Amino acid sequence: MTETTDSRNANELFASVLRPNPVESDYAISKVEGEIPRELNGTLYRNGPNQKVAPAGGAAGLHLFDGDGLIHAFRFEDGRASYRGRFARTDSFLREQQEGVYLGGLNLPSEREIESPPPSASANTNVVPHAGRLFALVENAPPFEMDPSTLESKGFWDYDGRMLGSATTAHPKIDGRTGQMWIHGYQPVEPYIQLYCVEPDGSVSLAEAHDAPWPSMMHDFAITENYVIFPVGSMHFDLGPLAEGGRFADAVKGRDDRPQQFGIRSREPGSSVQWFEAPSVGFMFHPGNAYERDGRIFMDACTYEDPQGLLDSLVEIRAGGDSGGFAAHPYLYEFDLASGACKETKLSDISAEFPRIDDRLVGHENRWGYAATAEPREGADGLFQRITKYDRTGGPSVNREPVAGRWVGEPIFVPRAADAEEDDGFVLNLVHDANEDRSAIEVLDARAIDAEPLARLWLDERVPLGFHGNWMPA
Ligand SMILES: [Fe+2]
Repeated sequence: MTETTDSRNANELFASVLRPNPVESDYAISKVEGEIPRELNGTLYRNGPNQKVAPAGGAAGLHLFDGDGLIHAFRFEDGRASYRGRFARTDSFLREQQEGVYLGGLNLPSEREIESPPPSASANTNVVPHAGRLFALVENAPPFEMDPSTLESKGFWDYDGRMLGSATTAHPKIDGRTGQMWIHGYQPVEPYIQLYCVEPDGSVSLAEAHDAPWPSMMHDFAITENYVIFPVGSMHFDLGPLAEGGRFADAVKGRDDRPQQFGIRSREPGSSVQWFEAPSVGFMFHPGNAYERDGRIFMDACTYEDPQGLLDSLVEIRAGGDSGGFAAHPYLYEFDLASGACKETKLSDISAEFPRIDDRLVGHENRWGYAATAEPREGADGLFQRITKYDRTGGPSVNREPVAGRWVGEPIFVPRAADAEEDDGFVLNLVHDANEDRSAIEVLDARAIDAEPLARLWLDERVPLGFHGNWMPA
């Protein structure tokens, strides 16, 4: 590979792949290298921030999490593909279009004082199909429903009137066997944690609230066959600075004196939470998967050892600032339910994020996972440069060769058929070429992850790297 030698330059390039491109479009994808496998029939949904009304100083002033959710639907059918993009038209999105000026976010204040502003809800983090519905998700608002076919905005869903807090996260876990969707919410005021279960028919069968050792950002969580796991990281909310007009960044701080805590409870209604203390300080955006074996629970995750460094990088990254805080490493956590002990093992020094598995095994023992990774290096131009396939049984990982100036997004596994074995299928991945300033969807053979893509679909419009997505079979 041709190394990007200057880390400042790499940070600027990385910022360039995050630039908004707030365009709604529909087209057949015609620029295809290779051949789209005919077994791929369905829709790849993706989501990411695409701020439509830019702040006066430009989008570089935004926090990594700021920006309107533009939902991308890539439809695959009989060897052909098409694209449709639509904004999640939440109340705050519509109000901002109406006012025509930036109405504030995590980094920057509103540029106009308006009466009764709607609660900020960008719906920009994930997009999840469940029970015939499609939800655009962000962790500071309820799920926002959109039409799975047209992407028409439908509105917020309040869990059939059973919401216990102000929001749920962008990371529901759909049990690969039962089809139940488990989702949690967190907030900086009590009750700090809320948990819901949505049945395969869309009905809500559980809505319960829990306390936590302290109020923390809790971006994601995990389930096993019988339990759910709440990761409370070494970050602490303090709303005082916000009340005095401060930024989000002033209201959450990394805490070196507070090792991670994990709350584990049974999936049975009315269960209480057992808390486990990890040996070290840390924070995770994303667990890979969790499962039970012999009275213990195993969970892999990408863990940031310097939570405050991460928070600082989130503020600066859009402006080409220091990305050194983006250094999450693969960890394995082991919880002994009888003794209450938590063991943690660092699995590798590589930077890793966006771990995904075969979704049919969510909550159950899996072998293979796929993640966006990078070798550790000075200046941390960091994550997202290549796809790695990893083996939970300890076998060697397989890395795709990175291409200079090309960044990759979250790898999403699609089985070749409903009854295909684990890892028999495709990995779909958004790549962004910063040198050519264009984006593509790559279709990889999961069993030959380091080979040339089966197909590379160049898009007419640049799609910023964004965050998360999911596959819905036709
Ligand atoms: Fe996430």
